Parts: sequence; structure tokens; C-alpha cells
Amino acid sequence: MIVRRGSEIKSSEITSKDAFLRYAQTRRGFLAGAAALGVSAFVGGTRMFADDKLKTVPSAYAVNETETPLKKATTFNNFYEFGTDKGDPSQNAHTLHTRPWTIELTGLVKKPQTVGVDDLMAYRPIENRVYRHRCVEAWSMVIPWDGYSLAELINFAQPLPSAKYVQFISKLDRKQMPELPGGFDWPYSEGLRMDEAMNPLTLLCFGCYGETLPNQNGAPVRVVIPWKYGFKSAKSIVKINFTDKQPKTLWNESNSGEYGFYSNVNPQVNHPRWSQGHERRIDTSLLPHTIPTLMFNGYGDQVASMYNGMDLKKNY
Ligand code: MTE
Repeated sequence: MIVRRGSEIKSSEITSKDAFLRYAQTRRGFLAGAAALGVSAFVGGTRMFADDKLKTVPSAYAVNETETPLKKATTFNNFYEFGTDKGDPSQNAHTLHTRPWTIELTGLVKKPQTVGVDDLMAYRPIENRVYRHRCVEAWSMVIPWDGYSLAELINFAQPLPSAKYVQFISKLDRKQMPELPGGFDWPYSEGLRMDEAMNPLTLLCFGCYGETLPNQNGAPVRVVIPWKYGFKSAKSIVKINFTDKQPKTLWNESNSGEYGFYSNVNPQVNHPRWSQGHERRIDTSLLPHTIPTLMFNGYGDQVASMYNGMDLKKNY
């Protein structure tokens, strides 16, 4: 069992309204089963949290680099549904309702079905994985994510042999997302080839820094694909679609000349408007801390063989 069930939560442990309101701007979380108590767990339209610590197990996946301070990772975000400035999501994403939450497994699978996120969290031990996180905008972080390999869920979903790609669809709710910018083909969608999705590095992610994901980081469930630019890692996922064709993805559709389907981190393939040779590590340094970008973000040993024989300049 990953988190305590509702029946084990004392009402005294449920955070007071004041404490919640103080906290809601920057952090939020959820304890599975609070609703089962019959306690009204909503304040200002957002589910309050009672205890958002995750029980995690160590994993072999950890880069030996200084972790980005939690404050930075949760206040410098890209989550356009809640505004396009880096500080917007931490200010605005408290309007996202993260329970009840289900994920639809659909398309080319043996049996299409809908699963609850709490069941998904309890399905496998939650591992702590410290990954490099490289945005296409040439900044990077080192984040301790919490989750398990997406392959576990894919095996559970039982895709048909004809399924060659996996598409991720993020939540779209205009009421909960009043800052939703025009000019994009919402909902946010992303995709991977099946072998990429099955790679053990690809993480189905429920938390970071040992706690459930803050809304601005993609609560209650996102993916993390550490050898690809960050935009491949769709947040707040409601649907996983198995398909035989390369799926449409939001950034690729909006500007295919700048954002390819693969988007593997590659210092030799520049963005048309800037170099990808270096990155600004978001950390505690006062001056910009610039470091060279690594091929596949440093994960070549685990992923390079998937692209043998492919022209990575064409398939950017
Ligand atoms: N997912 C959704 N639904 N909407 C978004 O705008 N932004 C992407 C990705 N996932 C985005 C998204 C981009 S550009 C990046 S770099 C990462 O989320 C940022 O994740 P972080 O805010 O947790 O660092």
C-alpha cells in the first residue's frame, strides 16, 4: 500500500482551512481516500490535502548531481493551461481538481478501460528517481521524481500487436483553466513510439521530492521521459491512447519546424532560434550557471540503441 487509506486518517489530521489557504498557492497534495471519510475535502474548489507524503522505495536511477531546490522546481514551471509565464502555474493551478481522477486506457488495447489514479498509485511500489530534466528552452533541473515505469501500466493495459505508438492526453477544463491561452489545439497531447514508452526509464510519475505532485508540476499523474525535451512529458494525464499511427502532439502541430515528434535532447541539433549545445542549470547560483548539454541528456547508454540507423537530424 502506497499511501494511507481514508479509514486510517484521523479527522484531526485533515489540514485546517487556514493552513490550506496559506499553502494552496504553491503546494498541494492529496491523500487517497479522504473523500471516503465523508468529510468535505474541498476548499475554494480545490481538494485539500491531509498528508501528501509518499511512501517511496529507492531505485537504481539516480544521477549524482545536486538536486534543484524544491522551491525552484515548483515555482518555475511550464504548464500553459495555467498561463504562459514561468510563475503562472504555481499561482493559478490551485484551481485544478485532482480528485476524483481517472485515466482512460483506450485505442488498440485488449480491453479499453478506465482506471482510478489511486488504484494506479497503489499498483506498484513508488520509486524515487533522480533525473535530469532538460527543457527545449535550454534550461535544466535535477528533480527527484516519484513513480514507476510506464511499462508496468502498458503491460496492464495489454496493447494489441498493432499498437505502435502511445499518446498522452492532458486534462482540459476551461472552467478550471481560466488562463488557457488561445492559438493552441487543446487539450495538450504528446506521444511516444511503443519502444520508447516501454523503456524502463520512462516514468509514470505521481510525485516529486517524496510528496504527491503539486498541481503546477502535473498532478495527479504525468509522465517523465528524461532523455527528451521536457515538453514530451505531458502533465495531468486523463487519457492514454494506443495507436498504429504516429499521434498528433500539441507542439509539433503548432510548429513542426521547431518541435519534432522525437525531440530527443541533442546538442548537435539546434533549435532554429537558439543553440542546444548548452543549458542553464536552474539552481542556487546567483549568476547563470551554464553547462554543456549531453547527448540524450546523458541517458545514451539506456536509450541510444532505439535510434540505431535513424537520422537524428531529420528525426529531430
Ligand atoms: N503538460 C501540459 N499539459 N501542459 C504544458 O504546458 N509543458 C511541458 C511539460 N508538460 C506542459 C506539459 C514543458 S514545455 C515542460 S519543460 C515540462 O512540462 C515542465 O515540467 P515542470 O514544470 O514540472 O518542470
